[in-house]
Amino acid sequence: MIMLDGKRVSAERLQIIKNRLHDVEYKPHLVTVLVGSDPGSQIYVKMKHTTCEEVGIRSTRIDLPESTTTSSLLSVINDLNQDPQVNGILVQLPLPQHIETSVILSSVEPKKDIDGFNPLNQGLLISGNPGFIPCTPKGIMTLLKTYNINVSGLDAVVIGRSTDVGRPMSALLLLSDATVTICHSKTRNIEQKLMNADLIVSAVGKADFLKGSMIKEGTVVIDVGITRIEGKVHGDVEFDSVSKKAGALTPVPGGVGPMTILSLIENTLLASGLQSCIPV
Ligand code: GUN
Repeated sequence: MIMLDGKRVSAERLQIIKNRLHDVEYKPHLVTVLVGSDPGSQIYVKMKHTTCEEVGIRSTRIDLPESTTTSSLLSVINDLNQDPQVNGILVQLPLPQHIETSVILSSVEPKKDIDGFNPLNQGLLISGNPGFIPCTPKGIMTLLKTYNINVSGLDAVVIGRSTDVGRPMSALLLLSDATVTICHSKTRNIEQKLMNADLIVSAVGKADFLKGSMIKEGTVVIDVGITRIEGKVHGDVEFDSVSKKAGALTPVPGGVGPMTILSLIENTLLASGLQSCIPV
């Protein structure tokens, strides 16, 4: 069984980016916007800024109170859209319930949309001409390529149909010529679909959901799940049983998570290249 070591791959690529940025005067600039005080989001945003600092990307954090309205958040984003000093904008999700998330994501200038959540970038991906690709699925494709796992012709099953992972993941696998099945809460006979899969991407968010008895020998298994139970992070995959049958598997932590952050940095470089003509 091959352990798909996202931590190592991400660290190697970030080092290359760091070396490259060291030699250029203009530093790309990422701005994150966090509304409220969700503890998980606080940790993620902090990690993003720490990585920016490590590689030499300028980053600014805007923290807004829980009481922020859709219209005041729109005004903050509009200022960032107009600001030539800002290359990438990331609005941390989830937003508080009273904010219209779809209105906010649509308002991010597509050329600065390093999350790839603006409907324009989502549409470009579905239509087969990607602009900015959402970070988690992009990182998974990078990891598969790094380990020479060619998905062309594979039967791939994506579990979960979220806008940030399941849907863009399916589009990317299809673009790479996999045969893609998307499973979700209403899917019937999921066991049969999983047993037929050559590649499974699990983005369910239920600890230890996928067991070894549910997959065939040699399956490539990508675990996107992160569930915190009593301070410990669990993936969707029951590691002990799945690792005995899988051909390749991402650990949690140290698999998909670091690849997501790498993609965020890559997308910020792409954005700054688009906006400033610096080669990236
Ligand atoms: N919340 C959880 N994952 C993500 C992500 O990839 N981007 C943003 N903006 N928010 C998130």
